[in-house]
Amino acid sequence: MKGIILAGGTGTRLFPITEGISKQLMPVYDKPMIYYPLATLMLAGIKDILVITTEEDQKGFQKLLKDGKDFGIHIFYTVQPSPDGLAQAFILGEKFIGDEPCAMVLGDNIFYGNGFNEVLENATINAKKGKATIFGNQVRDPERFGIMELDENNNVISVEEKPEHPKSNYAITGLYFYPKGVAEKAKKIKPSKRGELEITSLNDLYLQEKNLKAEILGEGFTWFDTGTFDSQLDAANMIRTIQNNKDKVICCPEQIAYYRGWISQEQLGERAKVLQKNSYGKYLQKLIQDTK
Ligand code: TTP
Repeated sequence: MKGIILAGGTGTRLFPITEGISKQLMPVYDKPMIYYPLATLMLAGIKDILVITTEEDQKGFQKLLKDGKDFGIHIFYTVQPSPDGLAQAFILGEKFIGDEPCAMVLGDNIFYGNGFNEVLENATINAKKGKATIFGNQVRDPERFGIMELDENNNVISVEEKPEHPKSNYAITGLYFYPKGVAEKAKKIKPSKRGELEITSLNDLYLQEKNLKAEILGEGFTWFDTGTFDSQLDAANMIRTIQNNKDKVICCPEQIAYYRGWISQEQLGERAKVLQKNSYGKYLQKLIQDTK
């Protein structure tokens, strides 16, 4: 299973902040925004990850994440020359994906909550069986999102991009799992009226073939799309509150890697040394003490 983090885009809703830097390199409390989607893919057990960025921001991401060794994974990089839509990621990543299933997460999406492991496992099993999975979360303002309509057994009946009259309030979050052959499928899509290769069009192709499943993120699950001033601050406050209450660091790639045996105690120790001046580094040090 391969994974893509789509971290390009123009971030116009965060101007002037994002006139000089990609939003995915910005902090959400104590870590760069991209750590959160990275942790999501790692939780799904994915070790080969392609980070897609704009050309001018690629260096920043490479400086931050390097080749992935600190996290016991392999990170590769590709440029998206212009923001031509989410589904373009699979065309840009065709060689990287090869003949495997592939998950994609948007670089500005944060997922945290109970039962996430199981949801990710289900999606992985679906992908290996030739089915795509999208993830629904109830929202108050469905006209702002891609929306899924479900029957009583949570089968997907329709998917619509920012509908005027939404058929449900289940937003399609920025995480998608596809079976092998997704690049071929993406090539079949025509650009929408706004000139983008829409992920909703790709999902619709799977739906027409009856190969689209939905997983619902339950009550109490936290999902943030951190593309605006307020959602970014709300997300940062939420992360801080959760971490302080639980006395831990959440969505922590180093921890996931360590618990899965992808990095050794020595490697985690080296990483803790780099971060030793703050609570993040002290947390990594504590993980080592707790497992000694
Ligand atoms: P958006 O929030 O839709 O777009 P954006 O990040 O450019 O922001 P704005 O609306 O403020 O201009 O994108 C969602 C995520 O997908 C975000 O992480 C950027 C990424 N993205 C790409 O990498 N390439 C694309 O072609 C598009 C449309 C989005």
